[in-house]
Amino acid sequence: MILILDFGSQYTQLIARRIREEKVYCEIYPGNKPLSEFSELNNLKGIILSGGYDSVYAKGAPHPDKKIWELGIPVLGICYGMQLIAELLGGKVSPSNKREFGLAEVSVNPKCELLKGLKNRETLWMSHGDKLSKLPKDFKITAKSPNSPYAAIENTKKNIYGVQFHPEVKHSVHGRKILQNFIFNICKEKQDWTMKSYISEEIKRVRAQVGKGKVLCALSGGVDSSVAAVLLHRAIGKNLFCVYVDHGLQKLGETERVRKVFGKTFGKNLFIVDAKKVFLGKLKGVTDPETKRKIIGHTFIEVFDKYAKQLKGINFLLQGTIYPDVIESVSIKGSKQPIKSHHNVGGLPAKMKMQLVEPLKFLFKDEVRVLGRELKIPNEIIDRQPFPGPGLAIRCLGEITDEKLRILKEADDIVTQEIIKAGLYEKIWQSFAIILPVKTVGVMGDARTYEHVIVLRAVNSVDAMTADWVKLPYDLLGTISSRIINEVKGANRVVYDISNKPPATIEWE
Ligand code: XMP
Repeated sequence: MILILDFGSQYTQLIARRIREEKVYCEIYPGNKPLSEFSELNNLKGIILSGGYDSVYAKGAPHPDKKIWELGIPVLGICYGMQLIAELLGGKVSPSNKREFGLAEVSVNPKCELLKGLKNRETLWMSHGDKLSKLPKDFKITAKSPNSPYAAIENTKKNIYGVQFHPEVKHSVHGRKILQNFIFNICKEKQDWTMKSYISEEIKRVRAQVGKGKVLCALSGGVDSSVAAVLLHRAIGKNLFCVYVDHGLQKLGETERVRKVFGKTFGKNLFIVDAKKVFLGKLKGVTDPETKRKIIGHTFIEVFDKYAKQLKGINFLLQGTIYPDVIESVSIKGSKQPIKSHHNVGGLPAKMKMQLVEPLKFLFKDEVRVLGRELKIPNEIIDRQPFPGPGLAIRCLGEITDEKLRILKEADDIVTQEIIKAGLYEKIWQSFAIILPVKTVGVMGDARTYEHVIVLRAVNSVDAMTADWVKLPYDLLGTISSRIINEVKGANRVVYDISNKPPATIEWE
C-alpha cells in the first residue's frame, strides 16, 4: 500500500486516483498526524508527501511525523512535499521572485531511478511560489527548469525523492511514467488492487465487524446504496434487511424498478414501505424550498425508524459513504468541515444509535461503479445520473400536488428516454425536468389551453460544485418539447434553462 500524506493540495485526490489507476491500493492521511495512529503501517511500501497551500517555513505550516525518515520506506515529495524534504533534512526553501504556474520545460536526467525512461527535456506542470535554494545533505539534483534550479532531487541511499512539478496532473506529459517508476521500481509494489480483491477483502472485513449481527440498510435505488447493499448481502446474506421508503417523490416507475432489480437478491428481506400519503400529507400547502427539505428529511427518519423498530434485534446501519466524503472530513483543508451526509439518511445514525457499516468508504465514485458491475448490478442502476435526496419535491416548484407531480414524472421520463436514445445519458452529469408553479396560455386543436410550463435542465459538471448548461442539439430539444406537449396532459410549454452554476444552482430549489 502507498500512503499519501495530505498537506492540503487541490491535487491530493488526483494523486490517489493516479495510483489506483495503476491497480495499486493507496490511502490519504492527514499530513501532520502521528504515523503511529495509522493502522496499516506494516503494509506500507511507499509514502508520498502531497503538495500544499502553505509555505513550509511559515509558522504553523503542517509538517509530517519525524518518524517517516526512519521507517526505511521510500518517500516521494511533490511540490510542497519536496520542499518539506529540503526544509526538514538540512536544505533551504525561500520565496521565489518569479512564481511558476502552468507548463514548464524541464531538463531531466533520464538515467536516475525516478525519471527513468523520460526524454532529456520534458513538459511538466508547475504550480509553486516557493522554491529550493539549497539542497538538503546527501541529495543530488536530477532535473532543472529555468525558474527551478532544483526541479527534482534524490537521495538514493535513503530512498527519498522530490519533484517540484506535479506528475499527477495530466498536463505533465510523462507524469504517469514518473509515478510508475516510484511505485513499481522504487517501492516494489505489485498490481494487486482490483475490484475482485476488494470484494473478497471487504467481505472478510464486514464479517469480522458484524459477526452474527443484523444490518439495516436504507435502500434508495441510487448507485451507492445499491452497491453497498449487494456487497453486504454477499458478506452476510439473510442478516441484511433493506428498507425502501416509497415517498412518492421518486422518478416514474422507480418503486417497480427497485422491486424488479433487488426483489430476487434480497427476497423476503426487502421491505417496500408505502409512505406516499404520509409524505405528501406533510408537504401539503408547503412552498418554501428549505421547509420542504426539512419535512422530507425528518419524515424519512420517522418512517424508517418506526419500521426498523418492528424488525427487532438490528445492531448495525449500512451507509453508502464514499471516499471523497471521507477525505473531505480528514483532509487538512477540510478538517473543520462536517462530513457530508446523504440528505435522506443524514441524522439516522445519531437517532438510531447503531454502529455504522461503510463498505464503500475507501472507493471513488467510478470505482463504486466498477464494483457494482463486478457484483452484476444492472447498468440501469450503475450508470444513473445523480438524483437528490428530496427527490422531485425540489423540482416541483411551489406547492406539491398530485397533479403537478404526475405531470413532472411523465415529462421527466420523456426527457430521460430521449437523452438515452440520443446516446447522451452517460455523457451528461444531470438531465431532468422541472415544473413551474405558473400556467401559460396555449392553443391545441382549436381550443385555448391554460396549462403548466416544463423546464428542461441539462448540465455538465465534475463535482457538482460548478456546472455548465449543455448545448443539446436543437433537434433533440425539439423532439423532447413536442413529445412533452403532445403526450403529457396538463403541460403546454417547454423552456430550456441556459444558466451555469454559479450563479444558478443545478436544482431549482
Ligand atoms: P445544487 O442544486 O446545489 O446541486 O447545484 C448540486 C448537486 O447536489 C444534488 N442535490 C442534492 N442531493 N440532497 C442530495 O442528496 C439534497 O438535498 C440535494 N440538493 C441538491 C443535485 O442534484 C446536484 O447533483
